[in-house]
Amino acid sequence: MKICIIGSGYVGLVSGACFSDLGNKVICADKDKVKINKLNNGIVPIYEPGLEELVLKNKKNNRLFFSTDINNSIKQSDIIFICVGTPTKNNKADLKYVFKVVNNIKKNLNKYKIIVTKSTVPVTTGDKLEAMLNSKKNKNKFNVVSNPEFLREGEAIRDFLYPDRVVVGTDSKKANNIMKNLYMPIIKKRSRYFQTSRRAAELIKYASNAFLATKISYINEIANLCEKSDIDIKEVSSGIGLDQRIGERFLRAGPSYGGSCFPKDTRALVTTANRFNTDLSIVKTVIKSNNNRNKLLTSKIEKIMNNNLKNKKITFLGVTFKAGTDDMRESSSLKIIPKLIKKGSLIKYYEPTGYKDEFNKLKNIKYCADINEACKYSDLLIIYTEWNEFKQLNFKNLVKKNNFKIYDMRNLYSPDLMKKKNINYFCIGR
Ligand code: UDX
Repeated sequence: MKICIIGSGYVGLVSGACFSDLGNKVICADKDKVKINKLNNGIVPIYEPGLEELVLKNKKNNRLFFSTDINNSIKQSDIIFICVGTPTKNNKADLKYVFKVVNNIKKNLNKYKIIVTKSTVPVTTGDKLEAMLNSKKNKNKFNVVSNPEFLREGEAIRDFLYPDRVVVGTDSKKANNIMKNLYMPIIKKRSRYFQTSRRAAELIKYASNAFLATKISYINEIANLCEKSDIDIKEVSSGIGLDQRIGERFLRAGPSYGGSCFPKDTRALVTTANRFNTDLSIVKTVIKSNNNRNKLLTSKIEKIMNNNLKNKKITFLGVTFKAGTDDMRESSSLKIIPKLIKKGSLIKYYEPTGYKDEFNKLKNIKYCADINEACKYSDLLIIYTEWNEFKQLNFKNLVKKNNFKIYDMRNLYSPDLMKKKNINYFCIGR
């Protein structure tokens, strides 16, 4: 099939590369000339394991193309995926880029096309897009379909090729058949193809993310209780997760959840519910609980340092919102680090994906390209993300002084082992 992906950001690039790998001809179109130039030269502008190899392979095999000519890319294609950004403005998804793309599509509707929203868009957006495209001239020339993506950063290729389910929202038989065909190689691998109404598909995306955010906040609060009652949260998570009705995934206690989806989507879902006069009190509480967690962990750090952060050398191992990504969006390190600096701490950070501009405006923070340099003579090491390279560290060799402390926010180490090694070790919910 001939596919056009508009928007070569995270979702667009991964989807484009994967669809081309499944044998389709894909044009990734974007108005950003610099980005398209890079991609045409084989440079992938985002960090995602496996993506560059996939892009290069399919470019070489003449299945994947990059273009700034959006009009022509639309004309040549049977299926158009809208993958442009929907930034939040006052807790509402801003759809101006989506609308702009749809206006372009309207001008270039030279034959029947399926227009698919993959960008996360609020419930009823599909209806609006359909109304925009509707005209006498365009009758029977298009269907608007919702096909939300559930990719996790760092695991995006695997999530795309082996998803738990593919959700397609449309009531058109014709569009559904074409979409099913497109996803056939993936469905064959036993992933479920789930056809539903367009509005339901739109809500499934938000409701899934809000549910996962709820699961994380829930286990984080149970971890708070474990800390006070001398119980190990890891045992509780395993014990709960063995119940198949609950499931063991997304029960890892840690810092506040972050990233480009959970914080934004939970807020946007509440806004949508308000529009329909519905009180999503659980989701509201999750948002509050997640925000409070930053304060809670900051005061835990203060306690660990005996309520004196003045001139204390604190090292962060990882600062992104999770391991496997270079993404800083809504990482709680952005909230915690400035608070620690305000209280007099001297921060160093080592980050496997490199220097972060986000801290540019802060004083008393230093990026170290080498983990040894970052940890040397530190008073406290904070393991903030769960990269494999943080899982077997020789802390005494790294810090090179006595009486340092460790705050393991991802529970990577065994408290008993740390005790045996005489290391002052703190973790989450244990
Ligand atoms: C998420 C969804 O998983 C994906 O389906 C959606 O399309 C986009 O948003 P992503 O943001 O890439 O993906 O990361 P994810 O792995 O879901 O983690 C989100 C946050 O939750 C991170 O801050 C992570 O550290 C945290 N998390 C996750 C936990 O604290 N505990 C867990 O058990 C799982």
